[in-house]
Amino acid sequence: MNSSRVFHATVRRQCRLFFARGIKSKTRRTAQTISRTSPSQRQTPSRSELEKFQERLRAESEAAAPKKTSHGIPPRALTFLGITALVISTYTGYLYASYTREVSKAQSLDVPTDVSDRYNATARTFDAEVELSEKAMRMGPKRADLVRMARGDVLEVSCGTGRNLEYYELGERRGVDAEGKSTVRGCRSLTLVDLSPQMVAIAEEKFRQLRPDFTRVQFRAQDAATVTVEKPVFSASATTTPRGAGDSAVHQDRYYDTIVQTMGLCSMPDPVATLRHLGAITEPARGRILLLEHGRSHYDWLNRILDNLAPSHADRHGCWWNRDIGAIVRESGLEVVEEKRWHFGTTWKYVLRPRQPAATNAKEVKS
Ligand SMILES: C[S@@+](CC[C@H](N)C(=O)[O-])C[C@H]1O[C@@H](n2cnc3c(N)ncnc32)[C@H](O)[C@@H]1O
Repeated sequence: MNSSRVFHATVRRQCRLFFARGIKSKTRRTAQTISRTSPSQRQTPSRSELEKFQERLRAESEAAAPKKTSHGIPPRALTFLGITALVISTYTGYLYASYTREVSKAQSLDVPTDVSDRYNATARTFDAEVELSEKAMRMGPKRADLVRMARGDVLEVSCGTGRNLEYYELGERRGVDAEGKSTVRGCRSLTLVDLSPQMVAIAEEKFRQLRPDFTRVQFRAQDAATVTVEKPVFSASATTTPRGAGDSAVHQDRYYDTIVQTMGLCSMPDPVATLRHLGAITEPARGRILLLEHGRSHYDWLNRILDNLAPSHADRHGCWWNRDIGAIVRESGLEVVEEKRWHFGTTWKYVLRPRQPAATNAKEVKS
């Protein structure tokens, strides 16, 4: 009687196990067969029979459990990994095929060094084309940091559609410099030039909406390589604006205090000569040239890609993206005050000033 109860309890427990493993029907049949048997017909199973029965149930439930491979990775995971690897390798192959096709197309093009006229045609779509990549590369804060250094009479060359306009501190005011010394900050006047009249027109339109109150501003379609010093006409109150320590009446007419250029060296036919000219119209003692440019990388593999695709990029966008900005700056003879690079070295920031005469340098070292 006792062993009969043990038998029933075992059957019920194993049934629950079978239900959980998803082989309900077989267990139910087993249980029903046993319960249909009248007590007189029922034979009390021996201990060894019980153990055999339990052994068989265990073997069956193990067989029903999800299988694992010899390395412990479930087959489903293996299948998923296999499909993922296949998709990635197919996509890589597609990218490589497109890249080699683009390279052979680029190498067959005969592109002139001067591609600056491309901007006349792309002016209207320029902002939309660069917006996404500039956001991804966080160029906004980099432009802001550079342009906020502009002070005094400011010239921006290659201004394009005016992507720096929102960052200028317009109007002079007394403040402190990076070293905490009292100084005059902000722009007394702003002159923006670009070779493309279409680009300048967009910049001017933007400025009029952004800062209609600031009148010491002018826009000109002019070549940065020959740009002249023509400052906006000041209103009477301009004479009362604070002057910087190094400024003089003579300098005021021959020089700009700050010259800004962003993403411009890539587009001009002779960037070294242009930089030299900009150096010649920058106030010699305290003037600065602020550059944010793009060009060659720190890495050979990336430079190879830039070189290979340069002709088609220049032909389409009017910019040689594989130029060595560091070499251009060195060749210009301007003095480097600050240099920084980002994005694998392809984005370059420079703060430059006209080369100081030997006597000035010696005096500076002494003091
Ligand atoms: C890549 S866009 C950069 C525009 C803008 N500075 C910016 O950061 O978005 C290059 C600009 O340089 C201008 N450019 C090319 N050669 C020039 C030159 N010799 N003098 C003045 N502007 C020039 C083009 O017309 C174009 O607007």
